[in-house]
Amino acid sequence: MPVPDTLDQLFIPRHVAIIMDGNGRWAKRQHKPRLYGHKVGVDSVQEIVECATEWGIEVLTLYAFSTENWKRPADEVGGLMGLLKNYLQKELSRMVKNDIRLTCIGDIENLPTDVLEVLRNTMQETRDNRKLTLNLALSYGGRAELIRAVKNIINKVDSGRLQIDEIDERLIDSQLYTAGLPDPDLLIRTGGEARLSNFLLWQASYAEIYFTDIMWPEFRQAAFTRAIIEYQGRERRFGKTSAQIKSG
Ligand code: IPE
Ligand code: IPE
Ligand code: MG
Repeated sequence: MPVPDTLDQLFIPRHVAIIMDGNGRWAKRQHKPRLYGHKVGVDSVQEIVECATEWGIEVLTLYAFSTENWKRPADEVGGLMGLLKNYLQKELSRMVKNDIRLTCIGDIENLPTDVLEVLRNTMQETRDNRKLTLNLALSYGGRAELIRAVKNIINKVDSGRLQIDEIDERLIDSQLYTAGLPDPDLLIRTGGEARLSNFLLWQASYAEIYFTDIMWPEFRQAAFTRAIIEYQGRERRFGKTSAQIKSG
């Protein structure tokens, strides 16, 4: 999947984050169980990961399971965990071949032990890969992430390893699950809802946000290209005026 002609190769976003939403509604429309939507959603993941790798995106963060998703019926949670485990097992050789590093963000200790084991193994086997960082948000919640960071920081202050005056944006960045990753440039949500659902609350402060009605199982190369075209047409001002941006 070479970079489509319609994309400007010089302005490929470094970090794309995606809220993969709409699997259940997509399945329901075709009178299929929700899990079928999640299964076809895995095919979308494969295709989008391939695009990201070949188009030169450095980091692709996929919101796969939120802290709130634990409240879903047990059979759906179990089905999602099974799909995750299968995906990781099936994709390891391709990740190694295509130079993809797998990382994750979230409270992964809550995952079932068999899934956690496969996850840790995949991260270990791909840790030196450099082309794409495929970052899975698993049992992830932005608020839980911030609570964890606040606790870590207070511990450091309490034990004298950190002065209050040293607390700045960089210090907070370093205490988040995403430490070491650039902030997302483009945040996509599929499935027609226009909300963040507790995703990357700190990191997305200047992300360009793109909402689409396309359901995740149908979000493939053409739709991903359209999202990046829209991103490339936006002016990122970061608080400045348009004239300031244009004069460099
Ligand atoms: C996204 O699709 C997948 C997860 C949240 C795990 P949904 O399962 O939320 O699908 P809808 O929103 O019910 O259609
Ligand atoms: C967000 O989707 C979480 C993931 C995509 C993993 P949800 O479907 O859980 O979000 P809400 O409940 O509609 O806000
Ligand atoms: Mg949903």
